[in-house]
Amino acid sequence: MRIIVGISGASGVIYGIRTIEVLRELNVETHLIVTGSAVKIARAECDLDREDITKMADKCYDVEDLTAPISSGSFLHDGMVIIPCSMKTLSGIATGYADNLLLRAADVCLKERRKLILVPRETPLNMIHIRNMLTLAEAGAIILPAMPAFYGRPKSVDELINYVVGRVLDQLGISHSLYRRWKA
Ligand SMILES: Cc1cc2nc3c(=O)[nH]c(=O)nc-3n(C[C@H](O)[C@H](O)[C@H](O)COP(=O)(O)O)c2cc1C
Repeated sequence: MRIIVGISGASGVIYGIRTIEVLRELNVETHLIVTGSAVKIARAECDLDREDITKMADKCYDVEDLTAPISSGSFLHDGMVIIPCSMKTLSGIATGYADNLLLRAADVCLKERRKLILVPRETPLNMIHIRNMLTLAEAGAIILPAMPAFYGRPKSVDELINYVVGRVLDQLGISHSLYRRWKA
């Protein structure tokens, strides 16, 4: 399997980092784009630098490199996830304003009818955010907010992170044991 992972500048870049880590453990080929804002937030939230993140991916692209293979519909893959997805990146995809590689790769997913999973992280949401999410859902994207559940009685932050990453993998059709499924 081959998945494109985007990490944009929202709080919770750890969700994206964990996604790359898990996909690597599961032998899934990863193509990674990390925005400049995501790098700054990774430093602030996790004490991690760009290289700490990119070394876990099979291939990493410069977010400004619109000539990269993933900017074309001819690049075949099994889905793309942007985790976390900032409101700025969300709005760029919703309006088709593909002026960087992350936005272009997502735009291509929608036009090629490939799976696009967006993991927004913002609160509270204004009407613009909500309208952009509606537009994207109508265009075929899956909106999967970073909202961990508590029915598994999580005991650590890692378990909360694994829950969200596990739900992303569920959407990609990748089996895993990252969280305990609800059983009455
Ligand atoms: C510490 C920090 C936390 C942020 N958290 C969020 C967030 O949770 N959601 C969001 O939409 N933007 C957040 N932002 C703002 C974005 O980083 C900013 O809009 C940026 O332009 C996003 O660019 P990108 O999508 O290209 O990464 C945060 C910024 C900083 C510095």
